[in-house]
Amino acid sequence: MKNIVILGSTGSIGASTLDIVSKFPEDFRVVGLAAGSKASELAEQIRLFRPEVVALSSPQAAKTLRTMIGNRPVKILEGEEGLCAVASLSQGDLVISAIVGGAGLKPTLAAIKARKTVALANKEPMVMAGQLMQEEAHKHGVTIFPIDSEHSAIFQSMEGHRKSDIRRVVLTASGGPFWDWEQSALTHVTPEQALKHPNWKMGAKITTDSSTLMNKGLEVIEAKWLFDLPPAQIEVVIHRESIIHSMVEYCDGSVIAQLGHPDMRTPISYAMKYPERVPLSPPVLDLWKIGQLTFYQPDTGKFPCLQLAYDALAGGDGYPATLNAANEIAVQAFLDNQIRFLDIPKIIAETMDAYRPSPLSSLEEILEIDQWARTTATRFLKPCASSFV
Ligand SMILES: NC(=O)c1ccc[n+]([C@@H]2O[C@H](COP(=O)([O-])OP(=O)(O)OC[C@H]3O[C@@H](n4cnc5c(N)ncnc54)[C@H](OP(=O)(O)O)[C@@H]3O)[C@@H](O)[C@H]2O)c1
Repeated sequence: MKNIVILGSTGSIGASTLDIVSKFPEDFRVVGLAAGSKASELAEQIRLFRPEVVALSSPQAAKTLRTMIGNRPVKILEGEEGLCAVASLSQGDLVISAIVGGAGLKPTLAAIKARKTVALANKEPMVMAGQLMQEEAHKHGVTIFPIDSEHSAIFQSMEGHRKSDIRRVVLTASGGPFWDWEQSALTHVTPEQALKHPNWKMGAKITTDSSTLMNKGLEVIEAKWLFDLPPAQIEVVIHRESIIHSMVEYCDGSVIAQLGHPDMRTPISYAMKYPERVPLSPPVLDLWKIGQLTFYQPDTGKFPCLQLAYDALAGGDGYPATLNAANEIAVQAFLDNQIRFLDIPKIIAETMDAYRPSPLSSLEEILEIDQWARTTATRFLKPCASSFV
């Protein structure tokens, strides 16, 4: 029996994790849950899963939750401190890190410092602070298992092989809903269109990132830190069907890939029960029915976010944190109808241009750059917003 803590329990990854727990109660028990502000969703999860401690980052929502819960035996914490306390609960064995965005950095680091095994979906902290996270994991003897389907596929394809034999890893990308649209048509993309992912059902931020290819860019940076690979060994291929989740090519020309239906419960459960597999019993992968698998080169002219991520990785220092923060600001502004779809990469590029590199080592320095980039990107929103009709 593994005691599970879920950071971001009210989100898409959180819901899939709880679905696995509910189907395999003899293997997993929920001891802690944390989220942002959805008090009623968390109240329902408390009723169903009976965690000992929960936290909401919004103090107001935590107050609402307390009135909803009445005298149930659960401790309700709030704010960033509350999230970090849930992440480091003494009774937790495995922390599922599934908050969206940079907000997950401190709680995920708290889990690592408390020597919890981490299953990482929340890629943004790895983008912002990959070196620091890996150093802390090393220092505290913590394993970070990937949940992102691409990184889980790479992890699985690397099992039993020597890292020195790897020639490259290839991350697959669905290409999102607009990959075959004309450049001119992208001007008029609406948030509703961007939120319709062809293959995966996910939260709004990652779905938008998939439509700009920034999600793949963030994943390239995540792969660098998770697998300690140079950027030149990390490639991206558009694979519309999302059946091959990623692959590893070795020095003898062998390519090992992991395939499956696009269902996040597969990589989540693999991280939860490693090295065993959970009998999820999805439909068999019917390759006759699928018929063909297609591959294309990403168009970084039409989708500059992927190139911006490679540039940030090459720039080092605070460039990845700057890229991530500017992207979070721009995506939210797009979803709020303040800017156009094509303004997203422009704002990120302008923010990266404004960044003056300096070496980063501490969490405080990373958070300072994150804050600076958010303020700067917000300033760049204004001219775009005024031209928005
Ligand atoms: N969804 C997928 O299939 C998928 C696949 C691979 C990787 N990922 C990664 O996993 C992460 C989560 O994605 P998702 O799709 O599950 O997102 P989501 O559905 O939007 O859920 C986000 C979760 O984060 C919580 N949250 C947001 N802001 C917070 C804050 N300031 N403090 C504490 N909690 C906060 C939300 O709580 P409230 O609901 O209470 O606001 C919610 O529980 C992302 O980093 C994403 O890139 C997701």
